[in-house]
Amino acid sequence: MSEAKRIDGKAFAENLRKQVAVNVKKIKTEHSITPGLAVILVGDDPASQVYVRNKGVQTKECGMNSFEFKMPDTVSEDELLAKVEALNADALVHGILVQLPLPDHIDEARVINAINPDKDVDGFHVINSGRLATGQKSMVPCTPAGCVMLVKNALGDDLSGLRAVVVGRSNIVGKPVAQLLLNEHCTVTIAHSRTKDLAEECRRADILVAAVGRPQMILGDWVKPGACVIDVGINRIAAPERGEGKMRLVGDVDYDSAAQVAGSITPVPGGVGPMTIAVLLAATVTACCRIEGIPEP
Ligand code: GUN
Repeated sequence: MSEAKRIDGKAFAENLRKQVAVNVKKIKTEHSITPGLAVILVGDDPASQVYVRNKGVQTKECGMNSFEFKMPDTVSEDELLAKVEALNADALVHGILVQLPLPDHIDEARVINAINPDKDVDGFHVINSGRLATGQKSMVPCTPAGCVMLVKNALGDDLSGLRAVVVGRSNIVGKPVAQLLLNEHCTVTIAHSRTKDLAEECRRADILVAAVGRPQMILGDWVKPGACVIDVGINRIAAPERGEGKMRLVGDVDYDSAAQVAGSITPVPGGVGPMTIAVLLAATVTACCRIEGIPEP
């Protein structure tokens, strides 16, 4: 079998951001409104700092207002909740994102559920997960939405009847991606660390989504020939071949062996990763239009 088609998430995300910029311009000219995204970062986790910086840069590049709030990791839950409340009440802010993870002394669910669900661009509020699960209009988690866009890019818009296996059951990726695929009429299995014969489950998948956070765990012989493989994992591993102490990024899928069997596959980096921020920017425009009562471009 020939090598799988490489799904170019970087190019897809670039196009999506260009479309967001066009939509933002239209909203500004026709309604004199500028969509605004507020991001709260607590503490100084290096990975989170990089994410938040990229979010800020890309938000401004699309013509939107970017508001960034940095709080020390000693911040109290009440102070953080007060900041969320202030942003709920701020008419210039259409999207609110609290960067996760939060320090241990803060109740993550309490903070997320304090966000106005209509401004919850992450789609993590229980009201939004409930709306998603019951087929109501909701804000949708960004990485899962990006995964489904890439699947449709590879397989076409009609996913009905396909078998999807999602490996991983996190609230951020596994559960919502399973829900989105179910809404697309796939037959969905959620597999996880206690699943019996995980390889066998994976081999049944027309669409295989890996979101477990274990480097290169899913091997080529776990993949059904021709399957669409979406790798959400971003794992840093030692790369002695690049020199002493060097690291490189790999996914949850062993790309080289899986690409020999799959029909299409996302690389790491350059697959799902770049999609998250692009989808977040699109979600901010959506939230803005709904809140302001103007048509979505
Ligand atoms: N940390 C890692 N990914 C995410 C995300 O998608 N949203 C938020 N808020 N925090 C994250």
